[in-house]
Amino acid sequence: MMTLNELGNLVAERFTQTYGRPPRWIAAAPGRVNVIGEHTDYNDGFVFPMAIDRYTVIAAAPAGEAPARVQLRSTVGNGPASIDLAQPLKPAPKGTWYNYPLGVLAGFAARGVKVPGFDALIHSTVPLGGGLSSSAALEVSTATLLETITGHKLDPVEKALLCQKAEHEYAGMPCGIMDQFISVMGRPDHLLLLDCRSRQTELVPMTDGAVELLITNTNVKHELTGGEYAKRRAQCEAAAKSLGVASLRDATAAQLEAAAGKTDPVAFRRARHVIGEIERTLQAAKAVRASNWAKVGELMYASDASLRDDYEVSCPELDAVVEIAQRIGPAGGVYGCRMTGGGFGGCTVALVRAESVQVIADRIAADYEKRTGIKPSLFVSRPAAGATVLRA
Ligand code: GLA
Repeated sequence: MMTLNELGNLVAERFTQTYGRPPRWIAAAPGRVNVIGEHTDYNDGFVFPMAIDRYTVIAAAPAGEAPARVQLRSTVGNGPASIDLAQPLKPAPKGTWYNYPLGVLAGFAARGVKVPGFDALIHSTVPLGGGLSSSAALEVSTATLLETITGHKLDPVEKALLCQKAEHEYAGMPCGIMDQFISVMGRPDHLLLLDCRSRQTELVPMTDGAVELLITNTNVKHELTGGEYAKRRAQCEAAAKSLGVASLRDATAAQLEAAAGKTDPVAFRRARHVIGEIERTLQAAKAVRASNWAKVGELMYASDASLRDDYEVSCPELDAVVEIAQRIGPAGGVYGCRMTGGGFGGCTVALVRAESVQVIADRIAADYEKRTGIKPSLFVSRPAAGATVLRA
């Protein structure tokens, strides 16, 4: 596995091959895996993600002459983009890959920060559309690069919000704040407990070498701009309204039960997921602080069942991985497993005994392929660093 510095050097080399001169600046931002607290961020709840050691890296150098423009190239096969900085910025058609960096450029422009022309090369080890926040990694790496180029340093919260706005307004995805926050604020060996209402964060150490987080990519692409995500958001808002609270963060399970007869049954189940998940997230943070891995695992399974049955954002392939993990069980070294991220494909995260991780990974890979005909990708990640400047 390459270190982040090695990855930076590789991208520098590719930049030089592409543009015929070395880069002056290099910035990176990670993807994430959410340990627990799913679909709670836009309900003012708690989330508990960590950065993974998969990064989007951008290398850049000043572009020569006026007119000022930004040239973006990517190593993942997307065509180059040329952005004229003298014109007002506006989103490219939906689905255009460079809408993410474009939205971040627009965020700097909106703050009156003058960005000079530059040429950039983007490279990523975060699987695209795999539910590991490849989009947040692209936004946050762009913002980190622009901070470096302009010398205009943003406060971390403002930076995450700028990136979230880019995703809303340029990529058309009404996401919450989790992905951008963790990509900005991740720390090695820590999970991030984030209160999405107050935006207060607590870094919770996770240094016990006896456990690992094993990530399984079902290799079923998730498509969150497809409307289901926005629909869930709307259902949560409707449920909060019918309960007479500002957001589901303010509702209790007892309150929801009392309103059962009067609440639309779908909204009721959506709300039951969110209310339960917020509680599970706080319990999981407590259990991680106590290295109570059996408890963390139990909460992960409960989260998954709730996402599958009440929130309905799972899919047969995610369910297959969780069932295989459950069958391996604690005796085989698996404490818990759940889908992670928005859902409808993408990844699961499993908490496993470190000494058994290889055997577990092999078994999941073999059984999953047997059941679905799809080859999964599995990897382990320690909690990694958030956005990093590699060359300033
Ligand atoms: C996506 C969104 C996040 C969050 C998760 C679900 O990753 O970008 O804001 O809502 O889904 O927890």
